Amino acid sequence: MCGIVGAVAQRNVTKILVEGLKRLEYRGYDSAGIAVVSEDQLVLRKALGKVSELEEKCIANPVHGGVGIAHTRWATHGKPSEVNAHPHTSDHIAVVHNGIIENHAQLRAQLQGKGYEFLSQTDTEVVAHLIHSLYEQSGSLKETLRQAITHFDGAYALGVVSTKEPDLIVCARSGSPLVLGVGIDENFIASDQLALRQVTDRFVFLDEGDLAEITADRIDIFDINGHSVERDVVQLTDAEESADKGEYRHYMLKEIYEQATVLQNTLQGRVSKTGVLEEAFGTEAKAIFDQVEAIQILACGTSYHAGMIAKYWFEDWAGLPCAVEVASEYRYRKTVVRPNTLFVTISQSGETADTLAALRSSKESGYLASLTVCNVANSSLVRESDLRLMTLAGPEIGVASTKAFTTQLVALQLLVIALGRRGCLSAEKESELVAGLLQLPELCKQVLDLDGPIQQMSEAFSEKNHALFLGRGVQFPVALEGALKLKEISYIHAEAYPAGELKHGPLALVDSDMPVVAVAPNDELLEKLKSNLEEVQARGGKLFVFADAKSGFSNDHGTTVLSLPHVPLNIAPIIYTLPLQLLSYHVAVLKGTDVDQPRNLAKSVTVE
Ligand code: AGP
Repeated sequence: MCGIVGAVAQRNVTKILVEGLKRLEYRGYDSAGIAVVSEDQLVLRKALGKVSELEEKCIANPVHGGVGIAHTRWATHGKPSEVNAHPHTSDHIAVVHNGIIENHAQLRAQLQGKGYEFLSQTDTEVVAHLIHSLYEQSGSLKETLRQAITHFDGAYALGVVSTKEPDLIVCARSGSPLVLGVGIDENFIASDQLALRQVTDRFVFLDEGDLAEITADRIDIFDINGHSVERDVVQLTDAEESADKGEYRHYMLKEIYEQATVLQNTLQGRVSKTGVLEEAFGTEAKAIFDQVEAIQILACGTSYHAGMIAKYWFEDWAGLPCAVEVASEYRYRKTVVRPNTLFVTISQSGETADTLAALRSSKESGYLASLTVCNVANSSLVRESDLRLMTLAGPEIGVASTKAFTTQLVALQLLVIALGRRGCLSAEKESELVAGLLQLPELCKQVLDLDGPIQQMSEAFSEKNHALFLGRGVQFPVALEGALKLKEISYIHAEAYPAGELKHGPLALVDSDMPVVAVAPNDELLEKLKSNLEEVQARGGKLFVFADAKSGFSNDHGTTVLSLPHVPLNIAPIIYTLPLQLLSYHVAVLKGTDVDQPRNLAKSVTVE
């Protein structure tokens, strides 16, 4: 999704801006641009496509200046094109914007009435012209931005420069993240701190509704009334942010292989040999946990699948009623809240607009408290929730979520145990679950070693247009996640069903052209699953079964079996996810798609 970078320095900022945009490429975008204040002129460069194309333009036609803003655009209003790429300008003003100005049509009509001419189809161009029209009266960029945002409905993170005040950037956020980077005699803005890690490790995370003015040696933050506000400067360590591909061909592959290590990080310091260490949830957790009688989980996409798995665990081991819903639906419907319900959000990025909106609306709904399971420290969800459990997966750059998902599952299992031990979860059961979790790193390695046969299996998918994924019980959401991975990166249409539902409709789709993937650990539903798979075989379907070595499946002409090591059942959803990730990865590589930045998708979905 769109990315913002801005810099005010004593040196030429062009390289900083372009490098910052490169670091935001993983978020997904279709065009890029910069505006630099150069000797009292606004100099713009824009490119459709990759940031490298923008960089080439900046090399071929160099830009010099100490103040500049830059943007990667993910089209919402108007197709991807250079004209629609940011920054948008209005005479001496240039603007970059993340989010959506919902009342842009009305503002556009008003501005056209005043004689402003629009060149793009974007909602952002109204911001540039509105600021220009207000500046005439106020003569101060800071004051103008403050007035301008009172006209906007919707969400925004904005960065604005003007040749009339050539030493500063003003910026504001509401509904979209924005962070300030603190340097020595230079300061920065960005939509994600990752963009600025090459220039600083000190950050100010703006709160909702904050505005700021930055110069090379000063940062002033203020509220909508123009009153000064104080925000902490946070120093980040390198470990929190290292993000390069190393020797791997794609970030996604690197992130799949990192799982053995990062799952260990999620557990470290949070479990003893026999139990969960509750301090991991923070000092306020105990008082809240003691009262919890029900769980409401909200998330989107892959994180939603993690929530679906956690529901099985909450109800089975902790005896707590648990509801799970996609945030985009939840936020627009009336809900009935049971007494003492803990509101749990799950998110890799911590900035997903729908999940954040659901959290915000929950504050008025009578929940006991909110807890987020999240991967990005200082993200909006982390800052706005009462409790947080960080997944510690490290930066996830591939748009298709892999290590973020499995670490979410571990974190959620820790939460289930911490709450369950207050009710029906015995000390023996807790110790058995923790023993299972502790085997994760080793078992992950064993499963990732099966890459060769999985790669071979992928050949049977690369020419297909459809695939079906089946699972039963807690493995149903695993199948859903497997199908989502395949469609996201290989563009093959994939659906997942609880295997018992097959005969209620989807069986009609099964023929020799439809690969059917099944996840089959040796659990209490194995025999039921086998019967369902026989229904597939009987119709000539091609089965690909990821099965426990002791499940009793064997290869024959219609069935390909990948034998997985026997694993404790509480970690089976995590372990069985890994071969499905590898399968999708290899299919996508065979198809030649853009694995890390699949078409039309964004890493962090900060608009509705
Ligand atoms: C996963 O592969 C997807 N790219 C997507 O479904 C993602 O999980 C979803 O957008 C939620 O993001 P979040 O975890 O950052 O909130």
